[in-house]
Parts: sequence; structure tokens; C-alpha cells
Amino acid sequence: VAASVPGAPRQDPLAGTGPMPIIRRDPVTPSPGDSLVGSTVTVPPGGDVRRRVARLLLLRTLVVSVVLGLSVWLLTAGARPATPAVWLQSTIIAATYLSLIVFGLMLRAGVAPRRVARPMLATDLAITSLLVYVTGGAQSPYAFLYALSIVAAGALSYRRGAIALTLAADALMSAVALLAWWRVIEVPMPAQLQPWEQSAGDFARTLGIQLAALSAVGVLSFIFGDQLQRGAETLATTRQAAADLFTLHQDIVRSLAAGLITIAPDGTVLTANQAAAEILHRRAAELAGKPLEAIMPGLAAQLAGRPGGELQRGDLTLGDLTIGVTVSPLRDVNDKVIGRVVNFQDLTELRRLEQHMRRAERLATVGQLAAGIAHEIRNPLASISGSIELLRQAPLASDDDRTLMAIVHREIQRLNVLVGDLLDYANPRPSQPVDFDLGVLVRETLQVSRADRALADVEIATAADEPLLVHADPSKLRQVVWNLVRNAADAAAAGGKHVRVEARRAGEQTTITVEDDGPGIPPDRIGRIFDPFYTTKQKGTGLGLATCHAIVAEHGGQIDLESEVGKGTKVVVRLPTGR
Ligand SMILES: Nc1ncnc2c1ncn2[C@@H]1O[C@H](COP(=O)(O)OP(=O)(O)OP(=O)(O)O)[C@@H](O)[C@H]1O
Ligand SMILES: [Mg+2]
Repeated sequence: VAASVPGAPRQDPLAGTGPMPIIRRDPVTPSPGDSLVGSTVTVPPGGDVRRRVARLLLLRTLVVSVVLGLSVWLLTAGARPATPAVWLQSTIIAATYLSLIVFGLMLRAGVAPRRVARPMLATDLAITSLLVYVTGGAQSPYAFLYALSIVAAGALSYRRGAIALTLAADALMSAVALLAWWRVIEVPMPAQLQPWEQSAGDFARTLGIQLAALSAVGVLSFIFGDQLQRGAETLATTRQAAADLFTLHQDIVRSLAAGLITIAPDGTVLTANQAAAEILHRRAAELAGKPLEAIMPGLAAQLAGRPGGELQRGDLTLGDLTIGVTVSPLRDVNDKVIGRVVNFQDLTELRRLEQHMRRAERLATVGQLAAGIAHEIRNPLASISGSIELLRQAPLASDDDRTLMAIVHREIQRLNVLVGDLLDYANPRPSQPVDFDLGVLVRETLQVSRADRALADVEIATAADEPLLVHADPSKLRQVVWNLVRNAADAAAAGGKHVRVEARRAGEQTTITVEDDGPGIPPDRIGRIFDPFYTTKQKGTGLGLATCHAIVAEHGGQIDLESEVGKGTKVVVRLPTGR
């Protein structure tokens, strides 16, 4: 009886152990959405062999109790004294009960059902043989009990069980019949059953009929077991296929780079995949059961004006996160809408890059124009400057004339500086990158800033990783730090009077952060501050940030500015660390 039941012992992937990538709602409160996503697929667990063994155990005890109990009752009816036959049959009933207890306990203790079934069937065969022997061998009315064991084995272990038990039963039946006929061991028997008194012909006939009956039961059990086995195999394959499909579905949802959230019609989240949790910077378990509005505020408002509540790639801003959201109806197999699917991607980085690109494009156009004009102004400016110089030296000039000419000269110097700045910005000299310590450069630049009288009452703090080797053009980076610190100090002078500069290594990047606690920049102006000539200062040129941007971009880096009105401004320059 050593057949294997397919599908039984292997761990069922649907049983719900192991890490589940899909967040489930409490299974006690199923929702319409559960039919499609995150549903609990119920497949009968692999413990049905155990159940069958337990049932057989009870059935055999019942049969033995009824049959033998009835015969004991018949034998003792009429208050006849207990004969040895009664004792024997009572002992057999007791043995059956005892084995019921033993095997029952084994099953309880978690012994594999298959390992309980074998000794159980063996015990049954032994008890039946004993009973058949003491009740007349070939003529015993209890030979049919063998058939019960055969059917049981067929039900438990299909074809192999039926064949094995039929062979065993036939062999045992013949053996005990012969033993009884040869009178090997004398046992007390009811008077009408004396096997050794049978003629050889009679014996052969009776035994033959018994064996034929047992074999017939065996054949039926074989056919029945065959069908059972096929059924079980089909079930196992189907179950496996369903499990594979379910696992595949889970794997796909888990491996998606996009966030995927399903919501019920009332707007509560049913399921969310791993990516969704990661993009939203939340723990996966937190998302399920929450109203969508709590997770993506503003989405409901966007959906409100749309027919069917669909949304094609809308941008949604959540704090400093920008996500691109697509919402579509969630339909079940009958095409009934049972909720919505929210599919989203993290676009923060993309939008930031787009912003940088737009800014760079604008600067390039404006810069070219400015450089052209500056170039054209420079030559006439040189002639004017030279002429005024000559006029100043003319002996005929009055004092008033000299004062006026001094003003012209001063203003020409200013224009010259401006044109120089402009040309520097628009037509920068090529970079000469070398390896140097950015930390040292930052500290040196700040020392000069501290000495600057205009910035004297602003407290400037530094923090720099050391050494902070970078490969860049030091004089250009000095210009960046200087411009940013000047801006911050200008702003801080009107606010808390604190500027903090930090140079750090952050993985693949080197960052310079300049922070001030000045008045900040109103949101409507932030978009323009990198534009050349945009300034709010009386003596400003508006080229500071534009130049910074050009230099940082030339070094393959990025410059970002965050500002909050009333709190201050933070500028972060990110430079690639590698050469
Ligand atoms: N840290 C800051 N806090 C507040 N506003 C700032 C800050 N940095 C820049 N700004 C704003 O951005 C504008 C443009 O700055 P940018 O450095 O390009 O030019 P500028 O400082 O005005 O002139 P320049 O740097 O050429 O002397 C400034 O006029 C100011 O309004
Ligand atoms: Mg400036």
C-alpha cells in the first residue's frame, strides 16, 4: 500500500504561508475588489489523506463492533453461559478498539497518515485472519471482512493498494483455511462449523468461492481506484496550474516598477504593490484600507470632473514628490466595474531634469544674444574711454568739465566690468580641470567673504568633508561658491544673519550646500532667478546665478534652489565625483 497521493505532501503555494507581496485586506471583510486582486483563493488543503485514514479507522471499528457484537449477542442470547467462542470474539472487538486508540493517537500526534494506514491495514488483515480461523476457515461467515480491507486500500492508495491487498487477502484466506482444515491448532468452535470434517472437494469449493469473491472485490476496487487516481491527478495538475498562475500574477505585480493600487468604489485602498509603497515612501502594510485621499490628496478632485473617473497620465504633486498617475476602472470578469486601478510612476527626477533643460535652453538663447551685444558694445566703449582720457588731459578744460568727464570715466569703467561679466558668462573661457581639495577651496573663499566689509555682520559657518578631492576648474568653482555666498549673505543681512555652507561627499556626487535664513523668494519669482539680468538688487547685474548655472552645467553637475518665504533659501550644487 505504498502509493503516493499527488499533490498531498508538497507545500501548497496557495496556503498563504511565506511572504506575500500583495497587501491583503482583512479576509473577514471581503469587498467587491477582492474577486480580482488580492483575493484569497481557496483550494482544499493537502490533508485529505489524513481525513480518509481517520474515516477508515472509525468505519472498521464500527463494522467490527456491529458484526461481532451482533454475533456475540446471538451466542449469548437465552442466558447461555459464555462459551470460549464468545470470549474470542469479544477479545477481537477489544483488540479493534485498542488499535483504534493507538492509530488515532498516532494520527493526532502528526504521524504521516500514510504511515498510519499501513499498520492499520496490516492489523485489520491479522484480526480478520484470526477471526476467519476461529470461525471455520473456508466456511467462516467473516471472510467478507477481507473485502472491506481491500476496498479501504483501494480508496487510500488507488490501484496499487487494491492489487496489494487483494493478493494479501487471497493468500491469508487460503492459509488460514488450510490451517483450519488441517486442524493445526485446535480452537473451540460452534458445533456446526468443524472445518476438518469437510471433504477435500467441499473444502476446495468453499475456499474457491471465497477467493473468487475476494478477487472480484479486488477487481472492482482496482477499477474504482484507477478512476480515483486519475481524478486526483487531474485535480493536482489543475491545482498546480492555478497556483502557478497565481504566483505568476503576484510576481508580475511585485516586479512592476510602476506603483499599482486598487481601490474600492468608496475610495478605500484594497491592494498596493511594493513599488507603490516605495514611491510613496510608506510601509506597504500602511496603505491597505486607507482612503485614497489620505495617500494621494488632490487626486479625487482631479477625478471628479472626468467621465467614468478615468485619468490619463495626470501629474500629481505630493509634497516634493511629483507622480504621473493613470486611473482606470477595475472590471471583473463580467465587465462590471468594481473599483479602480491607480497606476503611477515617480516623475520627480524627470520633472527636475526637464526644468533644468528648459532653464539651460533659455540661458543659451539669452546668452548668445547678450554676448553679441556685449561684443558690439566693447569696441565703441574702448574708443569712448580713450577719447575721454585724452579730453581729460586737454589743458583748456574747465573744472566743471573735468568733474563731468570723471563721471563719464567711472561709468565707462562700470560698463566695462559689466561687459566683461557678460562675455565671461556667454563666452566662458574653456575649463582647465585639475584635481584639488574642494573643502580647502570653500574655506578659503569663505575667509575672503568674512573679510568683506559688506558681509561683515553676517555669521558664516562652514562644514566640509576632508579631503574632498574633485576634478574641476578651481577658479570657476570659486566663482560659484562666491556668487552663492554673496547672494545668501545679501539675503541673510535682511533676515536672521546666518549663512551655512557645507561641502560633502554623497555617494557618486560631491555637494555644496549654501543655506541662509533670509526672507526667501516668493514662488512666482523662483522660476526667473536663474535668468540672466534678473535681479531685485539695486546694484546687481542678475548674472550671478546664471553664471553659476552655466559653470555647474559645464562640469556635468546640477544646481537646485529651494526657498520658503520668511524662512530662508537653500541652494544645492551637485557635482559628479568621478573624473
Ligand atoms: N539666497 C537668496 N535669497 C533670496 N533671494 C535670492 C537669493 N539668491 C538669489 N536671490 C534672488 O535672485 C536674484 C538673482 O540673483 P543673481 O545672483 O543671479 O543676481 P544678483 O545677485 O541680483 O546680482 P549679481 O549676483 O550679478 O550681483 C537676486 O536678485 C535675488 O532677488
Ligand atoms: Mg548674486
